[in-house]
Amino acid sequence: MLFITLEGIDGSGKTTVSKMLKDSLIQSGHRVLLTREPGGEPLAEDIRKLILDTNQKPTPWTETLLYIAARKQHLDNVIIPALKEGIIVICDRFMDSTSAYQGYARNIGIADVEEVQNIVLGLTKPDVTIFFDITPKEAQIRLLNRKRNPDRIEKESQKFHESVYEGYQMLISENTERIKIVDSRKPINEVLQQVKFIIDNAIGDLISNHND
Ligand code: TMP
Repeated sequence: MLFITLEGIDGSGKTTVSKMLKDSLIQSGHRVLLTREPGGEPLAEDIRKLILDTNQKPTPWTETLLYIAARKQHLDNVIIPALKEGIIVICDRFMDSTSAYQGYARNIGIADVEEVQNIVLGLTKPDVTIFFDITPKEAQIRLLNRKRNPDRIEKESQKFHESVYEGYQMLISENTERIKIVDSRKPINEVLQQVKFIIDNAIGDLISNHND
């Protein structure tokens, strides 16, 4: 059915909006699965704990492959079966996160990361991706106000988070059809309205393609 992914730097507010989007789609009568990466499946959640553990020091490629391993497990066991049942899948982070965080910010190269992901993950790609746009500085302030301790990636330098943001800008410029931008600095209800507008259009396109 429809595969939606949500992307953004840490502190961009996408996780809060994802829950509101799910509720709103269910109210409109859709069957919806909200899931996340890394995680969304028992083994993938265990890999998540490993990757985000502040005591671990994976090399850039090890980190990349762990994210992709968690994704493969989640995709095959959760996402693809749900899509086959006609469920709308909303995934909080997906392939673009690995391209931006590991491919760009860890200097592995977006092209190399995309090549590995294409080999491992196959043809299932998001129909629409929403990028929650907020400057790294503003996101940092939000992160400082969070109650829980920062994970290993959140603890990275401001320079790293700025680099992730730059990586996303490159992905956006290369995928203008798929990646839609919302202004995440706005109040949460306004952000939700922007997201709903994009998703309603995507559902409309899907229905008209189906009827053609
Ligand atoms: P989350 O906090 O959005 O759940 O994501 C966990 C962290 O993992 C977040 O800092 C972003 C990072 N991450 C990557 O570096 N690469 C990836 O492929 C994914 C999915 C997340």
